Amino acid sequence: MAIERTFSIIKPDAVAKNVIGKIVSRFESNGLKIVEMQLKQLSREEAEGFYAEHKERPFFGDLVEFMTSGPVVVQVLEGENAIALNRELMGATNPQEAAEGTIRRDFAQSIDANAVHGSDSPASAEREIAYFFGK
Ligand code: PPS
Repeated sequence: MAIERTFSIIKPDAVAKNVIGKIVSRFESNGLKIVEMQLKQLSREEAEGFYAEHKERPFFGDLVEFMTSGPVVVQVLEGENAIALNRELMGATNPQEAAEGTIRRDFAQSIDANAVHGSDSPASAEREIAYFFGK
Protein backbone atom coordinates (compact mmCIF):
# COMPACT_ATOMS: atom_id res chain seq x y z
CA MET A 1 0.00 0.00 0.00
CA ALA A 2 1.19 3.52 -0.77
CA ILE A 3 2.66 5.80 1.85
CA GLU A 4 0.37 8.83 2.27
CA ARG A 5 0.45 12.11 4.13
CA THR A 6 -2.49 13.60 5.99
CA PHE A 7 -3.10 16.79 7.92
CA SER A 8 -4.17 16.78 11.56
CA ILE A 9 -5.10 19.40 14.16
CA ILE A 10 -5.16 18.82 17.90
CA LYS A 11 -7.91 21.30 18.76
CA PRO A 12 -7.99 23.88 21.62
CA ASP A 13 -10.06 21.67 23.95
CA ALA A 14 -7.49 18.86 23.83
CA VAL A 15 -4.53 21.25 24.19
CA ALA A 16 -6.26 22.82 27.24
CA LYS A 17 -6.80 19.34 28.73
CA ASN A 18 -3.05 18.68 28.44
CA VAL A 19 -3.46 15.55 26.32
CA ILE A 20 -1.27 16.47 23.32
CA GLY A 21 1.17 13.69 24.21
CA LYS A 22 -1.55 11.09 24.67
CA ILE A 23 -3.05 11.91 21.26
CA VAL A 24 0.33 11.95 19.49
CA SER A 25 1.07 8.60 21.11
CA ARG A 26 -2.08 7.14 19.49
CA PHE A 27 -0.75 8.21 16.09
CA GLU A 28 2.74 6.85 16.72
CA SER A 29 1.66 3.55 18.18
CA ASN A 30 -0.56 2.95 15.14
CA GLY A 31 2.19 3.45 12.58
CA LEU A 32 1.80 7.14 11.78
CA LYS A 33 4.91 9.28 11.83
CA ILE A 34 4.92 13.01 12.68
CA VAL A 35 6.75 14.72 9.82
CA GLU A 36 5.69 18.33 10.56
CA MET A 37 4.40 19.80 13.84
CA GLN A 38 3.70 23.26 15.26
CA LEU A 39 1.88 24.63 18.30
CA LYS A 40 0.14 27.81 17.19
CA GLN A 41 -2.65 30.27 17.88
CA LEU A 42 -4.88 30.51 14.80
CA SER A 43 -6.02 33.97 13.76
CA ARG A 44 -9.67 34.48 12.82
CA GLU A 45 -8.62 34.83 9.16
CA GLU A 46 -6.66 31.56 9.24
CA ALA A 47 -9.56 29.65 10.82
CA GLU A 48 -12.13 31.16 8.41
CA GLY A 49 -9.95 30.31 5.43
CA PHE A 50 -9.29 26.79 6.62
CA TYR A 51 -13.01 26.07 7.13
CA ALA A 52 -14.20 28.10 4.11
CA GLU A 53 -16.11 25.10 2.68
CA HIS A 54 -18.37 25.21 5.78
CA LYS A 55 -19.04 28.97 5.50
CA GLU A 56 -22.77 28.56 4.88
CA ARG A 57 -23.35 26.05 7.68
CA PRO A 58 -25.15 27.30 10.80
CA PHE A 59 -22.28 26.39 13.12
CA PHE A 60 -19.56 28.22 11.12
CA GLY A 61 -19.30 31.16 13.55
CA ASP A 62 -19.10 28.87 16.58
CA LEU A 63 -16.50 26.69 14.85
CA VAL A 64 -14.25 29.68 14.08
CA GLU A 65 -14.75 31.04 17.61
CA PHE A 66 -13.79 27.67 19.12
CA MET A 67 -10.77 27.09 16.86
CA THR A 68 -9.36 30.50 17.82
CA SER A 69 -10.12 30.13 21.56
CA GLY A 70 -6.62 28.83 22.37
CA PRO A 71 -3.55 27.23 20.81
CA VAL A 72 -3.79 24.22 18.51
CA VAL A 73 -1.21 21.73 17.24
CA VAL A 74 -1.04 21.50 13.44
CA GLN A 75 0.79 18.48 12.11
CA VAL A 76 1.43 16.30 9.09
CA LEU A 77 1.20 12.54 9.64
CA GLU A 78 2.78 10.04 7.29
CA GLY A 79 2.21 6.32 6.91
CA GLU A 80 0.47 3.57 4.98
CA ASN A 81 -3.12 4.54 4.28
CA ALA A 82 -2.60 7.58 6.55
CA ILE A 83 -5.80 9.48 5.61
CA ALA A 84 -8.25 6.66 6.37
CA LEU A 85 -6.19 5.37 9.31
CA ASN A 86 -6.20 8.80 10.97
CA ARG A 87 -9.99 9.12 10.48
CA GLU A 88 -10.41 5.68 12.05
CA LEU A 89 -8.23 6.59 15.05
CA MET A 90 -10.17 9.88 15.48
CA GLY A 91 -13.65 8.31 15.55
CA ALA A 92 -16.97 9.93 14.56
CA THR A 93 -17.34 13.74 14.52
CA ASN A 94 -19.80 13.51 17.42
CA PRO A 95 -17.90 11.95 20.36
CA GLN A 96 -21.18 10.42 21.59
CA GLU A 97 -21.23 8.35 18.39
CA ALA A 98 -17.49 7.59 18.31
CA ALA A 99 -16.40 3.96 18.74
CA GLU A 100 -14.68 2.83 21.92
CA GLY A 101 -10.94 3.36 21.92
CA THR A 102 -11.05 6.28 19.48
CA ILE A 103 -9.49 9.66 20.26
CA ARG A 104 -12.81 11.50 20.24
CA ARG A 105 -14.50 8.92 22.45
CA ASP A 106 -11.66 9.16 24.98
CA PHE A 107 -10.77 12.87 24.91
CA ALA A 108 -13.68 14.90 23.44
CA GLN A 109 -16.81 16.13 25.13
CA SER A 110 -19.09 17.44 22.37
CA ILE A 111 -19.54 17.84 18.61
CA ASP A 112 -18.26 21.42 18.77
CA ALA A 113 -15.23 20.61 20.97
CA ASN A 114 -14.14 17.31 19.49
CA ALA A 115 -10.38 17.18 20.14
CA VAL A 116 -9.03 16.57 16.64
CA HIS A 117 -9.40 17.33 12.95
CA GLY A 118 -8.18 15.06 10.16
CA SER A 119 -8.25 15.42 6.37
CA ASP A 120 -11.10 13.44 4.80
CA SER A 121 -9.61 12.80 1.31
CA PRO A 122 -6.35 13.02 -0.65
CA ALA A 123 -7.47 16.35 -2.15
CA SER A 124 -8.24 17.80 1.32
CA ALA A 125 -4.94 16.50 2.69
CA GLU A 126 -3.01 18.22 -0.09
CA ARG A 127 -4.90 21.50 0.34
CA GLU A 128 -4.70 21.49 4.14
CA ILE A 129 -0.98 20.61 4.27
CA ALA A 130 -0.25 23.40 1.80
CA TYR A 131 -2.44 25.83 3.79
CA PHE A 132 -0.31 25.47 6.92
CA PHE A 133 3.04 24.18 5.73
CA GLY A 134 3.26 25.56 2.22
CA LYS A 135 4.03 22.41 0.26
S1 PPS B 1 -16.69 16.14 8.90
O1 PPS B 1 -15.65 15.81 9.87
O2 PPS B 1 -16.24 17.17 7.95
O3 PPS B 1 -17.21 14.96 8.23
O4 PPS B 1 -17.84 16.66 9.78
P1 PPS B 1 -18.92 17.72 9.49
O5 PPS B 1 -20.14 17.30 10.19
O6 PPS B 1 -19.01 18.02 8.03
O7 PPS B 1 -18.33 18.97 10.27
C1 PPS B 1 -17.35 19.82 9.73
C2 PPS B 1 -16.59 20.48 10.84
O8 PPS B 1 -17.46 21.25 11.64
C3 PPS B 1 -17.44 20.82 12.99
N1 PPS B 1 -18.81 20.82 13.50
C4 PPS B 1 -19.27 21.70 14.40
N2 PPS B 1 -18.68 22.72 15.01
C5 PPS B 1 -19.46 23.44 15.88
N3 PPS B 1 -20.74 23.17 16.14
C6 PPS B 1 -21.36 22.14 15.54
N4 PPS B 1 -22.65 21.90 15.80
C7 PPS B 1 -20.62 21.35 14.61
N5 PPS B 1 -20.92 20.29 13.82
C8 PPS B 1 -19.79 19.99 13.15
C9 PPS B 1 -16.87 19.43 12.97
O9 PPS B 1 -16.19 19.16 14.18
C10 PPS B 1 -15.96 19.49 11.79
O10 PPS B 1 -14.69 20.01 12.17
P2 PPS B 1 -13.37 19.32 11.67
O11 PPS B 1 -12.29 20.21 12.18
O12 PPS B 1 -13.44 19.26 10.16
O13 PPS B 1 -13.34 17.97 12.32
